[in-house]
Amino acid sequence: MSTHGFEPAADIFRERRALVLDALGDAAMVLPAAADACRRGADPSPYRPDSEFFYLTGFTEPGSVLVLRGFGELRRSVLFVRPRDKTAELWGGKRLGPEAARERLGVDACHPLDEFGQELGILLKGASRLFFRLGSDPWVDRLVRGALAHARARGARKGLGPRGVIDPGETLDEMRLRKDAGEVESLRNAAALTIAGHRALAAELRSGVGEWELQAALEAVFRRRRGSTPAYPSIVASGANACVLHYSENRSRAWAGELVLVDAAAELGHYCADVTRTYPVDGRFTPDQRAVYEIVDEARAAAIAAAAPGVPVSSVHGAACDVLADGLASLGVPATNGGKPEESTALRRFFPHQTSHWLGLETHDVGDYSIGGASRPLEEGMVFTVEPGLYFSEDADGSAARFAGIGVRIEDDVLVTASGVENLTAELPTEASAVEALVGAR
Ligand code: GLY
Ligand code: MN
Ligand code: MN
Repeated sequence: MSTHGFEPAADIFRERRALVLDALGDAAMVLPAAADACRRGADPSPYRPDSEFFYLTGFTEPGSVLVLRGFGELRRSVLFVRPRDKTAELWGGKRLGPEAARERLGVDACHPLDEFGQELGILLKGASRLFFRLGSDPWVDRLVRGALAHARARGARKGLGPRGVIDPGETLDEMRLRKDAGEVESLRNAAALTIAGHRALAAELRSGVGEWELQAALEAVFRRRRGSTPAYPSIVASGANACVLHYSENRSRAWAGELVLVDAAAELGHYCADVTRTYPVDGRFTPDQRAVYEIVDEARAAAIAAAAPGVPVSSVHGAACDVLADGLASLGVPATNGGKPEESTALRRFFPHQTSHWLGLETHDVGDYSIGGASRPLEEGMVFTVEPGLYFSEDADGSAARFAGIGVRIEDDVLVTASGVENLTAELPTEASAVEALVGAR
């Protein structure tokens, strides 16, 4: 049975389309589903629906295109899907087909995909502008370019057809940034599954265990749940591997006395969690590891405490940086050159990334972080990560040499509520002694 097809709760997708149609006015939008599975040679790799297309349809078959028109009485939501085809379905799984798709997805019209080129010219007639992302699918690109060229030629005589092409994100990013109740539920489910995965990994920690074995224990929990995959390549980084921010080789063994930084999370129902914990392999932090760890956990707590509706997202980063800089100073490692910690190149040596990014259908979700040059205030429904870290590379020198090879990151997922914030991943402990207890003595 194919995993492609329709996922329930059609109303929400119809409501979202209605909002986009209102915003479009006399413009149109063309959204292709992701191009079919990338292939290595003849073998397909797993298909992941395009987030924008999924957000407005809930439809997860490849080879589909949605056209929205904010104008006209008829055919304002038009979908193109792969036709039913016995042979193709034998190999690739069941297709919904145009008739069933129209009914189930509640669009005004649904056509077989091979009519897209011909229908597009008709649908774009009268559109002032076109919301479309060039470069996402070569086949759709070619047909859209053809329709635009045709409209330009016709427009010179009749004043019809779009004159400007705009990125759909201009409308959709703002909507996606504020999660509705169903999306928050999905994110909660992804967070809960992620926490279960981390707990399973923690139970496997012991001296000499392979990073790959830990990864297997964690991802097995994700894979046992229908519709779940890792949200991004799992990072299981023992010892100094933790200082490579996007380490995902996971080929080393973890030894007693080392830390293992685990940045790994589930995608469930197409919504992503993003969680990092740093565990002592043998269930005990050394004094130096603990000192670094507690600074990072304090920065995490301070960053979450600073977040609330109306607070600029940059203040969350600022709060983390203040604690990290003070903490480093208390260890005898100077990490400011006088100015604000978040602007300090000295702090960047040990904390080279941001504290937060938006989270949703993508691990690094859409949405601007600043508006008109000023940091964007948080609003109810936004979901973001809080992920401070400190990394002392193996060649750390001077006062930092004592900590060489220690890398710690702690990452939670945070929802902005009407009155404050809620930590969606609070159930997975971060406090040093609670993490030791979670691992247990080995
Ligand atoms: N897992 C990627 C990140 O934390 O941003
Ligand atoms: Mn993250
Ligand atoms: Mn992460």
